[in-house]
Amino acid sequence: MRVLSGIQPSGKLHIGNYFGAMQQYLELQEKGNECFYFIANYHAMTSVQEALSLQDFTAEVARGYLAVGIDPEKSVFFRQSDVPEVCELTWILSCVTPMGLLERCVSYKDKVAQGLKPNHGLFCYPILQAADILIYNSNLVPVGQDQKQHLEVTRDIAVKFNNTYGEILTIPDPYILSSTAVVPGLDGRKMSKSYDNTLELFEPPNRTKKKIMRIVTDSTPVEDPKDPANCIVFALLRLVAQEQETQQWQQRYREGGMGYGEIKKRTVELMNELLDPFRQRFEKLSQDSDYVEDVLREGGKKARAVAVELMDKVRSATGIITSH
Ligand code: ADP
Ligand code: TRP
Repeated sequence: MRVLSGIQPSGKLHIGNYFGAMQQYLELQEKGNECFYFIANYHAMTSVQEALSLQDFTAEVARGYLAVGIDPEKSVFFRQSDVPEVCELTWILSCVTPMGLLERCVSYKDKVAQGLKPNHGLFCYPILQAADILIYNSNLVPVGQDQKQHLEVTRDIAVKFNNTYGEILTIPDPYILSSTAVVPGLDGRKMSKSYDNTLELFEPPNRTKKKIMRIVTDSTPVEDPKDPANCIVFALLRLVAQEQETQQWQQRYREGGMGYGEIKKRTVELMNELLDPFRQRFEKLSQDSDYVEDVLREGGKKARAVAVELMDKVRSATGIITSH
């Protein structure tokens, strides 16, 4: 089964990304699928229009994914821009994509509402995403719920292409990432780099500590019972604690006699236990940019070989002639 997903390098990675996406990518890798994971730097241009930032975020995502466990021996890990054929396929797919399909996409409207520039790149973003998926004959595409519509668009475009030019493209299925793991941010809203409410994956342990210790809790006195379901600290603890310990804390909330300082301290401890090995590997990779570059280059070569083969079929089916 070929699994494929793209990661936008548009900011620093946080624990929401880890529990909501990265951990599940790793599971798919460990289950013996043929995983293609790539850094969607062309997509990120719709929100990051500063060359140095785009370079930095791309490097951070590359190191970050390797640090948490993407294994280049098991998965093909690469940069979108190392497979230029994807831009060519985007154009070809554009020519079979009805305008109405793109006009219905809510993510364009959402992003414009959030302040992104309403340019053509943002509008045709789903076609580039379709090209990413279809160029590698992907079967399964793990994405968050918000990307479900883009997967439907991808399938529609693939069917339209196949009806016009013959059965060339593989129709992919979405694999919607579990939403039980929606991680709250430090302010209680969804953790997101856009809200500045994140616990970053690779920040120093004392910053993680400060952020957790400063989470605003309600003013219920220590001796009174409290509601774990309405507590950000508890929600963070349960991500990192064993089931049995989570239940013990839950009971202590309900019984009363527990101060928030106590659970905050334990959450810091457990969070840092999870993050420490990631930080160490991230730090090591930061000092070995040659290794990271080698991984991406090799991954890019493998991915490109698949893309080139598909593009030969696409060009000959569509009547596009090139001299190379
Ligand atoms: P952000 O909201 O910080 O901009 P992205 O949109 O780049 O994050 O998300 C990348 C991936 O991480 C997506 O698959 C998304 O579903 C997942 N993700 C992001 N934030 C969270 C969160 N708070 N809880 C669970 N998953 C998340
Ligand atoms: N649009 C996806 C997101 O914002 C990133 C992405 C780009 C992607 N190309 C893809 C995801 C192909 C899956 C498949 O998260």
